Amino acid sequence: MNILEAQHGVPEREPQRLGEVTDRVLEVLRRGGADLSQLGVPAPPESDPLLWEDVSIPQARARKNAWITSMREAAHDDYLKWRFTDLDANQHPNVLGGWLDSLVEAKQHKARPATMHLIAPGNIGSGKTTALAALGNEASERGLLVRFIKHTTYLTWRRPDGGPGDMTAYAARKRHVEADLLILDELCGEMDGVATEFARRETIDLVDSRLSAGRPTAFSTNLRRDGIAAVLGERLLSRVEDRAFLAKIQGPDRRTPRTPLDW
Ligand SMILES: Nc1ncnc2c1ncn2[C@@H]1O[C@H](COP(=O)(O)OP(=O)(O)OP(=O)(O)O)[C@@H](O)[C@H]1O
Ligand SMILES: [Mg+2]
Repeated sequence: MNILEAQHGVPEREPQRLGEVTDRVLEVLRRGGADLSQLGVPAPPESDPLLWEDVSIPQARARKNAWITSMREAAHDDYLKWRFTDLDANQHPNVLGGWLDSLVEAKQHKARPATMHLIAPGNIGSGKTTALAALGNEASERGLLVRFIKHTTYLTWRRPDGGPGDMTAYAARKRHVEADLLILDELCGEMDGVATEFARRETIDLVDSRLSAGRPTAFSTNLRRDGIAAVLGERLLSRVEDRAFLAKIQGPDRRTPRTPLDW
């Protein structure tokens, strides 16, 4: 074989007709991130699963970190340890677990959950945040993108320059509207009975946007129904209640010291 024949023996280096898209060219384009649909190549089947459970996969790690970050930003790192099995009966671990199962199943089928909301009212210190943190911890482990935020913190973040770091008000809304599951802690708390027009508008926007998009939300609150209705309005609250589990978490204030402080 002479030199010319030897060079021609490498098929992918053979002179190609101008404009011919060979497998080799396609491979180079694919590696470079080109949009192959422009060349009539069908898109590969959807490879992004709806749930990410295996934390060795970067997307799964990112979702898990999103949850952990939101708990840290709420200064609730110590609530990351709670699981359903740690809860007491009055914290309704079975209701929370059953609801989570239905959310995971709905997500797997790209369906809207049948029950969109979980409302956990109860007295101060009864264990509401703990119960909902357990829900978030378990949901995050099952591959959902979960966020936790106190209602008043959300309202602060929605003000100009109110967000942490350089997070814009727009990004704050997007983050909480788009989460698969949002835990909105202390709904309508610290409002001294008077919600501003801003608080009302922002809360309605958040709850309504999530409801319209079929994204479930869990609420905890120290208030009774009337206090919530004053902020959300009767119409939206009825829509929230229309598809909701009510998990009343009542009991002694777990933070009360055994011997009251004398001061
Ligand atoms: N099942 C449990 N077993 C032991 N300790 C618990 C349990 N649930 C909650 N606690 C503890 O009780 C304390 C109060 O719980 P938590 O913060 O959940 O109450 P809360 O109802 O959210 O209170 P608040 O009304 O002030 O928001 C926390 O220190 C928490 O660790
Ligand atoms: Mg709480």
